[in-house]
Amino acid sequence: MKNKLIAPSLLSADFGNLQRDIEMLNNSQADWFHVDVMDGRFVPNISFGFPVMKTVQQYAKKFVDVHLMIVEPEKYVEEFIDYGADLISVHYEACTHLHRVIHQIQDKGAKAGVVLNPTTPVLMLEDIIAEVDLVLLMSVNPGFGGQKFIQNTYKKIRETKDLILSNNSTALIQVDGGVNLDNASKLFEAGADVLVAGNAVFSSENPEHTIELMKI
Ligand code: DX5
Ligand code: ZN
Repeated sequence: MKNKLIAPSLLSADFGNLQRDIEMLNNSQADWFHVDVMDGRFVPNISFGFPVMKTVQQYAKKFVDVHLMIVEPEKYVEEFIDYGADLISVHYEACTHLHRVIHQIQDKGAKAGVVLNPTTPVLMLEDIIAEVDLVLLMSVNPGFGGQKFIQNTYKKIRETKDLILSNNSTALIQVDGGVNLDNASKLFEAGADVLVAGNAVFSSENPEHTIELMKI
């Protein structure tokens, strides 16, 4: 997988016109579809589940990246893969048996990522980094779109890069939350491979152009 990828978050899409927004992304320079699933337990908000995932499967023509902000993700990962998820990321903080869930996802044929909340240290990944396909660093507290970017993320990107290199890991680094046109290039420079953007893309006048500018 190449880097400097943009993954627009469908959380900020217009759900009354979801097919239209998905097709707009198909025709844009967006690389991945980022699908934010929230359960009202791990995070204080509920987003959507399988019916929306089914629509994504039906219309999305690009790599589908599912971010599970749910407790007990092991109960649902296989069904998300049946609905077309190419990659599933689970939260370190939500998994008692992280190693088992990561392999459950990979054994079912998808890529597996692990997510860290803003204050979970990168060193917690020391014993799993060689086995994951992606590390997702939350740059806001998960639960809502349109929040302010947490600056400490830059330090965590550098630490994750070091951890990846010292373990010969092939994991990509993804950053999620508060990404916009002001910080996208700095984040790529710091070592991020994939940037998630919800509000910055969907609330802009020209989402396709915004995606294009984020990749410069
Ligand atoms: C936050 C979600 C993000 C969110 C990003 O809990 O994981 O993917 O949609 O939204 P923006 O880009 O608006 O911060
Ligand atoms: Zn997300």
